Amino acid sequence: MAELVQRRLDRIRAEHAEVADGELADYIPELAGVDPDGFGLSLSTSDGFIYESGQAATEFTIQSISKPLTYALALHLIGLDAVDARIGVEPSGEAFNEISVDRVTNNPKNPMINAGAITAVSLIPAGSPDERFELIHDFYSACVGRRLELDHDVYTSEKASGARNRAIGYMLQSFEALDDDPDEVLDVYYRQCSLRVTCTDLARMGATLARGGMNPVTGRRVTSAAVVRRTLSVMVTCGMYDGAGDWVSAVGMPAKSGVGGGIVAVLPGQLGIGVYSPRLDDKGNSVRGVLTCRSLSEQLGLHFLTVRRDARATLRAVYEPRSGVRVYEAHGDLLFSGAEEVLRVAERERDRYDVTILDVSRVDDIDDTAREMLSALGAALRADGKEGHLVDPDGVVARAGSPEIRFRTVDDVLDALDRRRRPTP
Ligand code: DON
Repeated sequence: MAELVQRRLDRIRAEHAEVADGELADYIPELAGVDPDGFGLSLSTSDGFIYESGQAATEFTIQSISKPLTYALALHLIGLDAVDARIGVEPSGEAFNEISVDRVTNNPKNPMINAGAITAVSLIPAGSPDERFELIHDFYSACVGRRLELDHDVYTSEKASGARNRAIGYMLQSFEALDDDPDEVLDVYYRQCSLRVTCTDLARMGATLARGGMNPVTGRRVTSAAVVRRTLSVMVTCGMYDGAGDWVSAVGMPAKSGVGGGIVAVLPGQLGIGVYSPRLDDKGNSVRGVLTCRSLSEQLGLHFLTVRRDARATLRAVYEPRSGVRVYEAHGDLLFSGAEEVLRVAERERDRYDVTILDVSRVDDIDDTAREMLSALGAALRADGKEGHLVDPDGVVARAGSPEIRFRTVDDVLDALDRRRRPTP
């Protein structure tokens, strides 16, 4: 049952496995040494359940995916107005390492390009660079739900080769956009970029943002819903740099990429996605990461303008009208996340029933992804030695012509079961 979701993710990853376009980032020498073929995908549901495909446990450095987190931490610690006074929210249409500020305000245009990200580091209130880094390190770890480690080799490599970022730091100082010593701020920035994550960590971080700042695994609120809303807004417009327009049209999820090869994508209220593949396009985004997110969005119906409602309350009731018979009653709009929830609950409870009844009579709307997933449930149950029945008076799941028997009510199913059990006279 949950393997129906797993198989879809495996299939989507496999579609792009042979793509070898793009180059490793080599402007940070240490990054040029990673295995170019590494390819992992993880998806976290909003309640923290993880699906993994491929090299989901491979560690890589977080790089620019750190930017929305430090921005969120700055918003959390000093507030929206104080941050807005120093960093804009306009897409720059420029490369991530452009040496530029807004012509009118003299502030960095947004927190996703290096100029804005370096300024965001300087806004974290602390008595020393070490203390500042610890606040950042603690915050990222709380978002992910485990203590992240620093990659010392990548840190020293970037620090030794960071002429461009030093130029940005001193440019910011000259425009009075940075109060602190640029080298001290940059040192913290290099450290934050060098924290190691897996794509499962990214999916978990995405789920924390999807849940409005509550880590679904630890149950800890790391920041407020207002901070997350602002952070996700900036990820929508600026997260994929000068590729942001294409991304929003084709994928439609707030996201952030890093030159380590990671991408995090967030579907608010529903899920977080992490992808890792280190070959990059000319914008600094993972080639296979972008393709995979595009396929996930198209094939699972994840564009944020398609998914209109929070699908967390899909299962309205689960009950047992008689021993060994379990009813799952779904309601509202059934999309990928809702169907996934139904399949996973049916799997988790498989020892508690011989017969399941899926009641979709209160479902208002369903997309093709959810319909396919739920239509496959009957066969998956049979393969598991169970029986599945569908209460679907309006043909929401089983369309006209489908071999599936559609019952009108749960009582109709129970009557049919009774008739079958009653000995024929
Ligand atoms: O500032 C840098 O150059 C890196 N530490 C981070 C850049 C990055 O990840 C850009 N994103 N795709």
